[in-house]
Amino acid sequence: MDINFTSIIPSLPFILEGIWVTLQIVVLSLLLGFAWGIILALFKISRIKPLMWFADAYTSIFRGTPLVLQLLIIYFGLPQILGFPIDPYPAAVAAFTLNSGAYISEIIRAGINAIDKGQQEASMALGIPYAKMMKDIIMPQAFKNILPALMNEFITLTKESAIVTVIGVQDIMRRAYQVGADSYNYFAPLLFAGLIYYILVMFLTLLGKGIEGRMRRSD
Ligand code: ARG
Repeated sequence: MDINFTSIIPSLPFILEGIWVTLQIVVLSLLLGFAWGIILALFKISRIKPLMWFADAYTSIFRGTPLVLQLLIIYFGLPQILGFPIDPYPAAVAAFTLNSGAYISEIIRAGINAIDKGQQEASMALGIPYAKMMKDIIMPQAFKNILPALMNEFITLTKESAIVTVIGVQDIMRRAYQVGADSYNYFAPLLFAGLIYYILVMFLTLLGKGIEGRMRRSD
């Protein structure tokens, strides 16, 4: 058994640079997924049958198939139909956005449903238009309730992002793997990658707790 920890030290900055790659993909996908999730959630509660069916079928498909498969279909499969290649980055962001939108839409739908019906009735009685009621009355309250679940999604995406390795994105995971392959010394760089992910997730957990605490204080 030969685990050489010191020989990877010169490669650590190379692996660390992957943090930005990972975070860029995750943050962008989370923001886009959030926007997409709001639209899907509004479809689900719209009572307009085709929109409800679409949003429900969409969620069912994107939650019912592996994310890595969705990524591979977008990166390798879609160019066959489109006739031009898709770069790994946009493919990764697209896959995570589409996937996360499905999960986030359920989080938002539950958040909206948890708001007392009386709020909606009062808004209607006051003649406030639906869009304005949603934007200024229901959504802000729902958002407050769902923040912990959204932070959870952030954490999930951060860990799941490691699968972009399979389409060649130079994220934390791929860099660690490359360092291992170059030196035939896998254990130390992969362990280091694990440490980075763990610290990232711990940081996000603390951030989530901080936000939650602040919101509780403001109540
Ligand atoms: N490993 C799971 C899958 O392949 C991850 C799903 C992503 N989860 C999420 N909350 N976006 O289905």
